[in-house]
Amino acid sequence: MSFLKSFTQQEAIPDEGIQAAIEVMKSGRLHRYNVNPGEKSLTDQLELEFSQYMEVDNCLACASCGYALHIALKALGIKDGDKVLCNAFTLAPVPGAIDNAGGIPVLVDIDQKLCIDLGDLENKARISGAKYLLLSHMRGHISDMDLVMQICKDFNLLLIEDCAHTMGAKWNGKMSGSFGDVACFSTQTYKHINSGEGGLLITPHSEVITKAIIYSGSYMLYEKHYAAPDKKEFDAIKYTTPNYSGRMDNLRAAILLPQLKSLNQKCISWNERYHSMHQIFQLSPHIELIVRDAKEQFVASSIQFFVPTLLPSGFQSLIDQCEAKGVTIKWFGDSEPSGYTSKYDSWHYLKDQTRLESTEHILGKLIDIRIPLTFTIDDCMTVAEIVSKEVEIILGSADSEPQST
Ligand SMILES: Cc1ncc(COP(=O)(O)O)c(C=O)c1O
Repeated sequence: MSFLKSFTQQEAIPDEGIQAAIEVMKSGRLHRYNVNPGEKSLTDQLELEFSQYMEVDNCLACASCGYALHIALKALGIKDGDKVLCNAFTLAPVPGAIDNAGGIPVLVDIDQKLCIDLGDLENKARISGAKYLLLSHMRGHISDMDLVMQICKDFNLLLIEDCAHTMGAKWNGKMSGSFGDVACFSTQTYKHINSGEGGLLITPHSEVITKAIIYSGSYMLYEKHYAAPDKKEFDAIKYTTPNYSGRMDNLRAAILLPQLKSLNQKCISWNERYHSMHQIFQLSPHIELIVRDAKEQFVASSIQFFVPTLLPSGFQSLIDQCEAKGVTIKWFGDSEPSGYTSKYDSWHYLKDQTRLESTEHILGKLIDIRIPLTFTIDDCMTVAEIVSKEVEIILGSADSEPQST
């Protein structure tokens, strides 16, 4: 049994988006501020629609999620050398955004649910004196947000949610991204809506959005923003806030708007595919699926599991054998960064190079599989069957160890 579809093939942009993009190109008015008097640009419309979706007053569309995280920290007042807590299991743009803002990442361990370890968070909040928590809901796994918020309150931490993997998800009925002082979303091709590159920043705080808008490169055109406060709030900061140019353009907004309309339906489709794979994986005695809290209303655009008894050499064989059958899987434990994935210990520019034993152990056993919506449910079941079978074949060989996680 082999699989023939590509794990990096996303769905086509909806016809409505293609038409809108063609209109933008025909008009030549790609720049967000190139509007007629009283007209709202497509970028404005996207900000308004996303702010409605998230039930928040303020939204800014920008060049990427990494850029949004950078200006979020700046808008929250980060100063050179300030410490920022963040989960050790995240993607390279996250410590990169902290570094770009002049901050020092303080890596926090993760737990078996792939969420930030709340004990380690509390401990590091206490000893580091950090004022910020940049929390990645990595691979769509959402922490117990009630407990996270309690820790933020206890230690006066400002919370930035990295929702690159949780657009459309909820914790206990509340949207992921609506807990923090700021939340940032990605619209890069492999995220829940796709404009190639792009980011969305939301915040309930008017003093944060005004700064973020000027940072994003609004020149003195900030009054052209609608998911934002009154002009006079900008006037107060216009002389003291630098422009870090990272705007979104109307072409990207044009293709994102119709995708936003179908986002909830897409979330259902991801979860159907996830559950079909989950059912197959749970039949394997060698595979341990991630336990999820009943309060987590996740959007599973990927699936993760542990193979507790597999040795590092076994993981490499598993990747190779699955690839030979047409199935691309990722191992988060690889000490060598490759493709999109790099582990915390490959970020050598970080001052603190302390090894995080618990994170190390968890990532060392962790497999990840992307779930593109171009796969049918049958495709997903085929993928899961191939991977389960290969795990079984390898664990019949010498690449295993007898103990469990
Ligand atoms: C967890 C996480 N956070 C942030 C980002 C940054 O997003 P962008 O590529 O839009 O800058 C990514 C991108 O892959 C990500 O996976």
